[in-house]
Formats: sequence, structure tokens, C-alpha cells
Amino acid sequence: MLNIISEKQPEMARILITGANGQLGNELRMVSKNYYGYDFDFTDADTLDISNQEQTEAYITRSRPDWIINCAAYNLVDKAESEPDTAMLINGTAVKNITETIRGTECKFIHISTDYVYEGNSNTPYNESITAAPQSAYGRSKLAGEKFALLHPGSMIIRTSWLYSSFGNNFVKTILRHAKEKESLRVVFDQTGTPTYAADLAAAIMNIVSGVIRNQFVLNSGIFNYSNEGVCSWFDFATEIVRLAGLSCKVNPVLTKEYQQAAARPVYSVMDKTRIRESYNLSIPYWRESLEKCIKLLK
Ligand SMILES: NC(=O)c1ccc[n+]([C@@H]2O[C@H](COP(=O)([O-])OP(=O)(O)OC[C@H]3O[C@@H](n4cnc5c(N)ncnc54)[C@H](OP(=O)(O)O)[C@@H]3O)[C@@H](O)[C@H]2O)c1
Repeated sequence: MLNIISEKQPEMARILITGANGQLGNELRMVSKNYYGYDFDFTDADTLDISNQEQTEAYITRSRPDWIINCAAYNLVDKAESEPDTAMLINGTAVKNITETIRGTECKFIHISTDYVYEGNSNTPYNESITAAPQSAYGRSKLAGEKFALLHPGSMIIRTSWLYSSFGNNFVKTILRHAKEKESLRVVFDQTGTPTYAADLAAAIMNIVSGVIRNQFVLNSGIFNYSNEGVCSWFDFATEIVRLAGLSCKVNPVLTKEYQQAAARPVYSVMDKTRIRESYNLSIPYWRESLEKCIKLLK
């Protein structure tokens, strides 16, 4: 077990990021440039494979972080239906490897989860107290990860949704690629949620981390929802991507039942963000404004 003594000066706080080559991890790298004096350690599976218990324990025990931000995940929602054990290993068991190592220490842990843990049949925004009822193997593996994260009292879980970035692979890039090649696209319009620009989430995470380090806030453990503000369908999202990119491709709405996918998705996964907004005094951007910023970067 790790023994972290929190006598370091705030500016020396050591922050370990796992899965740092993904969308959110790369956005955290960008945001970290605004935080002088913090000691960031960006890792990915090649340097720290969190599904390997021995490696995880050895790495964390050696590096003695004050904070761990876990961005590592298995995010292949459809493939998880045929590979549930792999999804569970990376999204579930790997989180246990982290929390068992930091158990009994003051290391703070931010773990990222998903709107896909919600059942998705509501028509009003989900708050964190609603019982999770994931409908897919991916969602079940992420819920298992949340339970392992909560074994450590200093854990904050952030559920996010429809994440995109100028880094990595995501819906925005897929739509842009297809819209450049095709005259029309079919996109589902009966699944409603909210996109999240990973740059906004990374900024929110670092606001929370730095606010806690400066004693502006206390880290509240437990579950918090975070997405951009507003509501849309995947069809609305795709239509706006094509419009902002100045492309002429026609986006046509289709029903989920006309678009075969292995995993069931929530019909409605809009999240109520009151808790995170009020606990950490966050101003959350509207999804269309953030999308515009990302498209400008990608152009
Ligand atoms: N993407 C979404 O739409 C979405 C929606 C809701 C919630 N989330 C959650 O948000 C968080 C960040 O997602 P993201 O989109 O930034 O993910 P991402 O782009 O898929 O990045 C995940 C990173 O984790 C790495 N990784 C995989 N297995 C690992 C392991 N065993 N040890 C260490 N690193 C490992 C991946 O490497 P490889 O690429 O080599 O596998 C990748 O670099 C995740 O918790 C995700 O579940 C995402």
C-alpha cells in the first residue's frame, strides 16, 4: 500500500494522468500548459498499463502522486458486446488496481465515467442519485469501474457524454470524413443527449484540481455529471458539424431501429449538471459554441 504524506507545497502537487494519449488525456496535456509549477506525469498503456495489477501498484508506489486522473478506458461500445471481459478488465478491474494501491492514502482520484450507465428511458435530465441501469456491456463495465473507484474515500467520478476533441477518433471526425466523401448521410434522430468537448471537460477538471489544491474548494467524493449545456439528437449534432464545416452533404434523420448496432444505447441521456456546477462554481459552455471552436481547429 502507498503512503503519501501531503506535506508538499501546492505548486509541487504531482498529478498522474493515465490513458493520456486519448481525447481527454490530450486535452489535459494542452490545459496543463496553463498550470505552471504542477508536476504532471502523462502515461498511457505503453508506460502504465492499469489493467496490470503489479505494474500499477509498482508505478504508483514509486511515483507517489497527490492526484490521479484516470482517462484510460475501453470505449468500443459495440465491440464490448462480443468482448465483455476485455471491457470489464480495462473499465472495471483496472480501476480496482488503482484504488487498492492508494487505499489509506490522501491521494485524490478523479475517474471518468459515462452517461451509458443510465437506463436512458427518461424524458427529464438524469441526476446522480438516479439508480444506474446500464443497457450495454460497455455501460456495465463502466459502472463496475465506478464501484471500484468509490472504494477510495477521496474519489470523484465524473460521468460525461458524447465526448469529442480535435484529438483521437470521435463522432465529429467521422461525420466530417463521411460528409466530405458522400452526398448524403443517415444519422439517428431518436437518441437525445448532450455532446461534450473534451477541452471543456479538461478545463473543468483542472479548475477543480487547482481549486482544491489552493483550498478554494474541498474535493467532494462521489458522482458528478458533466457535459456541455443544451440538448440535441445525434442528427442535430451531425447537421451542425456539417454546417459549421461549410460542407454541402445532406444529413437525413433515421430511426434507431433502421440503423443496426450491436449495443443498445440510451434513448435519452441528458444529464443534470447542477451538482458539479454549484460545487465547483463552474461555467459550462453551450454545446454549439464548443463545437464551433473544435471545428475551427480541425479546419
Ligand atoms: N469517447 C466518448 O464518447 C466517451 C463518452 C462518455 C464517457 N467517456 C469516458 O471518458 C473517458 C475518456 O475517454 P476518451 O474518449 O478520451 O478515451 P480514448 O480517446 O479512447 O482514450 C483512452 C486511452 O486509454 C488508453 N488505454 C486503453 N487501455 C489502457 C490500459 N490498460 N492502461 C492505460 N491506458 C489504456 C487508450 O489506449 P489505446 O488507444 O491504445 O487503447 C487511449 O489512449 C473514458 O473514461 C471514457 O470511458 C468517453
